[in-house]
Amino acid sequence: MMKGMVCLVAVALVLAGSVSIAAAQAAGLKKGFYKKSCPQAEDIAQKVVWKHVAGNRELAAKFLRMFFHDCFVRGCDASVLLDSPTNTAEKDAPPNLSLAGFEVIDEVKAALERACPGVVSCADIVALAARDSVSFQYGKKLWEVETGRRDGTVSSDTQALNEIPAPSSTFDILLTNFSGKGLGLQDLVVLSGAYHIHVAWSLTYVDAEFMRAYSYAGEVHVRTHNTILR
Ligand code: HEM
Repeated sequence: MMKGMVCLVAVALVLAGSVSIAAAQAAGLKKGFYKKSCPQAEDIAQKVVWKHVAGNRELAAKFLRMFFHDCFVRGCDASVLLDSPTNTAEKDAPPNLSLAGFEVIDEVKAALERACPGVVSCADIVALAARDSVSFQYGKKLWEVETGRRDGTVSSDTQALNEIPAPSSTFDILLTNFSGKGLGLQDLVVLSGAYHIHVAWSLTYVDAEFMRAYSYAGEVHVRTHNTILR
């Protein structure tokens, strides 16, 4: 396989200062970024993702969470996909050990490389996979994804562990954590509600939900599994 063809590549793990990758990327994002360079990009990505989600509905939760965890560490740059020879990349951090679907992302990348070599970033593929996997059951795209993200080459398990919100985080910690990413109270509430597309599966998760519900008490009524926040 050609170098650079797959998303999962080994990299040197170097933390590169405090450049705001998210801010740098935001300037270049737009709807239909690949309209001229690879017009069929989004259709190809959707086709591969839908094929897999049809056989495994849990992938919607996996890809939504993968996108969140990618964006929360160094911006949405696909750094969550990078492999480390010493198992010290983001994907090796405890919060990321239950991520899944990396092989599907790779399959999308391979299909896109066949159609338009070297054009579509892995970071955009992660964003599209989140949208397409969640949209699958509705048979149509639920939201537009602005594209044009560039892939990073740095990935650190320590940074992921420090920056991805912990299930034990209080409301104040979550608020501080989100504000460090340029996100406010409304973003925290909307994102916390937006990901209730699934059934609770573990005590840790249920505990985290209850803790968050109690933290919001008086301000927000949280009802899990039905995406109701008000
Ligand atoms: C606000 C702070 C958040 C905390 C503390 C948190 C924590 C957690 C924890 C502890 C789990 C269980 C993981 C496991 O069992 O291995 C989980 C699962 C999940 N989280 Fe979060 N999360 C947060 C925000 C978000 C956001 C903003 C999204 C996406 C928009 C998201 C998407 C998901 C999804 C889809 C799952 C289910 C994954 C699966 O079924 O494999 N989370 N979260």
